[in-house]
Amino acid sequence: MCGIVGYIGEQEASPILVDGLKKLEYRGYDSAGIAVYNGSCIDVMKTKGRLKDLEEKLEGRAVKGTAGIGHTRWATHGAPSDENSHPHSNGDETISVVHNGIIENYMELKEELISNGYVFLSETDTEVAVHLLDYYYKGDPIDAVIKVMNKIEGSYALGILFKDYPDQLIAVRKDSPLIVGLGKGENYIASDIPAILQYTRDVYFLEDGELAILTRDEVKIINKDKEQVDKEVFKVTWDVAAAEKGGYDHFMLKEIFEQAKVVKDTLMPRLPEDQNRIVLDDIKLSKKELENINKIYIVACGTAYYAGIVGKYLLERIARVPVVAEVASEFRYRDPVIDENTLMIVLSQSGETADTLAALRLAKQGGARVIAIVNVVGSSIAREADDILYTWAGPEIAVASTKAYSAQLAAMYLLTCHIALELGRMNEEEFKELRDELYQLPRKVNRVLNKAERIKRLADKYVNSKNVFYVGRGLDYMVSMEGSLKLKEVAYVHSEPYAAGELKHGPIALIEDTTLVVGIVTQAELYDKTVSNLKEVKARNGKVLAIAVKGNTEIEKVVDDVIYIPQTHWMFSSILANIPQQLFAYYVSTALGHDVDKPRNLAKSVTVE
Ligand code: F6R
Repeated sequence: MCGIVGYIGEQEASPILVDGLKKLEYRGYDSAGIAVYNGSCIDVMKTKGRLKDLEEKLEGRAVKGTAGIGHTRWATHGAPSDENSHPHSNGDETISVVHNGIIENYMELKEELISNGYVFLSETDTEVAVHLLDYYYKGDPIDAVIKVMNKIEGSYALGILFKDYPDQLIAVRKDSPLIVGLGKGENYIASDIPAILQYTRDVYFLEDGELAILTRDEVKIINKDKEQVDKEVFKVTWDVAAAEKGGYDHFMLKEIFEQAKVVKDTLMPRLPEDQNRIVLDDIKLSKKELENINKIYIVACGTAYYAGIVGKYLLERIARVPVVAEVASEFRYRDPVIDENTLMIVLSQSGETADTLAALRLAKQGGARVIAIVNVVGSSIAREADDILYTWAGPEIAVASTKAYSAQLAAMYLLTCHIALELGRMNEEEFKELRDELYQLPRKVNRVLNKAERIKRLADKYVNSKNVFYVGRGLDYMVSMEGSLKLKEVAYVHSEPYAAGELKHGPIALIEDTTLVVGIVTQAELYDKTVSNLKEVKARNGKVLAIAVKGNTEIEKVVDDVIYIPQTHWMFSSILANIPQQLFAYYVSTALGHDVDKPRNLAKSVTVE
């Protein structure tokens, strides 16, 4: 949801800003811009379109100077256009602002400002912030910024340049992520770590209500009462190469192929070889506290939610605890029953998704204990949860989530076993069997990845399908939801997940010879039932592509094509069965010529609701 960067130092700012924006393009990519102080004024260059359009404009007219701010946009208020692109400036162009978030009371503020003679050039909520700064600025920029912070409602991360203070960059945040990068003789701000990773590994995470005042040589953090805040420097340990394509055509493909490592990195440190137990260091929830839990909510959005519903299935079946899984945007507004005996598990790759964060806060207000399964270390969700289970997926750059989902499932396997063991619903012998199988999982993930070429051929064969259903029963149904989402979002092919047994209650009317049904049949006890449903599809001329467990060759007599996954414990087929779905979506998208890493209308890290 928009990416912002800022630089102040001795080098030319604009290449550093553009480079940072490239790493943030996943956050939005419908327009881009920079503002740089050039020694006499703030020079702004911005455009509708991708970052490459901005680069082209900059080739025509360089923007020179050593302090600046930049923005890549995902439109919320006002369509993508040059006027609505950031940075936004006040009337005499002495203040420039980039913004990520939504100013909720912007309409009333806009009216007030118009009545005070301010003229608006864009339809954005952001422009309110810059005119308000102008209104309150009486010579002290910090005073003006604090007054604006007290006036605006909603979420914001702001990067601000004042012409009168060209050696200073100001940044503030509320409910939108912002980090400060610490360099030598130069400092940075950014929405996310990859934007500045090649310049520094030392960062501060700005908290809500804090202001960062950056000069070349110093970063000062204060609160709204102008009191100094002492921050701890966080050392980023990511490998820079992890945020590069590394020879793959697209980040999505690279990230799909990283999954054996991701699963291994998430599982193995928690499964010591010499002990038959799980080590979950950051989960402090005691056995006694667990015994008092009478309800679990699993709350997340999108792909993370689909990992959550796999978790629900496993926790109920194995740990025998009632679980309600719900998307965060619904959960937060339906006044759910929460008390101190409630456990909430939130899942999030970015750790910044606005609805998930709000659901977490709601649960905490109600007295619940919150465990977060998060990928981005130090993110808002990680900081606010009571207990953390990090997924070690590394930076996920492609907008469509792939490796984060597998890591979330791996974390869910661990959490399920942990809760079941603590509650005495699983004995040591049963756990040992699962643990031995978990050790095999990364290798089995690689075996599925080795089928990429064949999956590409199947994608070419079915690329013109008009409608696609993803069906399964039980755990397979949970997995089918992620397969359907992936195809929709990267290939723009209409698809729906369906419980296989529900097809005949309506949707079967849509089956014709241009319909593809992807049938997931990995669960032994439900196998015959799902196969019967697939036969019903075949009887109506639909095409069927099955994802089945190796050895179940009988299915070849029923369906058009089969992709086999290795045999494993029924729980863990969820990771293996999803990989062909990811590859299929990737290859259909590229066959159709789409921008698979940056699908239209989407953005990663949805920090607005
Ligand atoms: C789909 C996708 C999204 C995210 C969702 C939640 O491929 O990436 O559906 O899963 O926006 O994001 P996080 O996990 O960052 O909370």
